[in-house]
Amino acid sequence: MSGRANPYADDRGNKDRSITKPGQGGTMGAGTAPEPSDRPAGVNAFLIGEAMTGGYGSGADILHDCTIAVDPGQIAVIVGPNGAGKSTAMKAVFGMLNLRKGSVRLDGEDITALTPQDRVKAGMGFVPQTSNIFPTLTVEENLEMGAFIRRDDIRGTMAQIYDLFPILADKRRQAAGELSGGQRQQVAVGRALMTKPKVLMLDEPTAGVSPIVMDELFDRIIEVARTGIPILMVEQNARQALAIADRGYVLVQGANAHTGTGKELLADEQVRRSFLGG
Ligand SMILES: Nc1ncnc2c1ncn2[C@@H]1O[C@H](COP(=O)(O)OP(=O)(O)OP(=O)(O)O)[C@@H](O)[C@H]1O
Ligand SMILES: [Mg+2]
Repeated sequence: MSGRANPYADDRGNKDRSITKPGQGGTMGAGTAPEPSDRPAGVNAFLIGEAMTGGYGSGADILHDCTIAVDPGQIAVIVGPNGAGKSTAMKAVFGMLNLRKGSVRLDGEDITALTPQDRVKAGMGFVPQTSNIFPTLTVEENLEMGAFIRRDDIRGTMAQIYDLFPILADKRRQAAGELSGGQRQQVAVGRALMTKPKVLMLDEPTAGVSPIVMDELFDRIIEVARTGIPILMVEQNARQALAIADRGYVLVQGANAHTGTGKELLADEQVRRSFLGG
């Protein structure tokens, strides 16, 4: 990023840009992590896809004036029915869609024109919904691939990821494709963390895993958020995800249908009836 002052630099709590604090064994309770911001994520949000309109290639628009944002210390969650455009919104923020209207800003910089690879360099970590690991490569090779933009020593980051996901350390020499669904998702998240991102975007990190594994993954995601990395994620487990969300977005047909804190959305009669099964 440019030398422009980061308004959040003083309270992001991860100045070393590590995923977990050294000496704390990757456990939570870092104590120095910022409290989630009370103000709504808006025009000055740390990461914002604002008023995004666009679709795939020359096809019809999928997103209509769609805005999603996340601030430091926050977990923002996107929920909505199948085909609502949740993944499309994530891809738009990551630069995989040509926006007809709207913009994407990260840390005060307009990154709308950047390629996905340049967005990774600018500090975005993205775990897509599908094909998010290299199944024939080992766990460790997957993590190494994640660090492709780095020229410095990656061993410290890798150790932190093994701290966060101990099972991956045990299976470091195993092909990632042989792992269980939940373990593969850990590889995918770990791979994204290898760049030491400023923001982490996860598209359905708990897809296809059991409720117990889902709870464990959510715990790890909260742990990452507490190190100061804002998290923007899509979740099909709407209730559970909104329960941990500082910001929640309900998308319907490519547009914002409801926005609020996770708590507000869970309490909203219309959201409950339409999207949460009553
Ligand atoms: N690569 C693509 N090319 C063209 N259209 C696409 C492509 N990917 C998705 N779409 C269309 O965009 C719309 C939104 O799809 P998207 O995958 O964003 O929904 P979603 O909310 O993520 O759904 P799900 O809950 O099933 O993951 C759908 O109509 C889908 O058919
Ligand atoms: Mg999707």
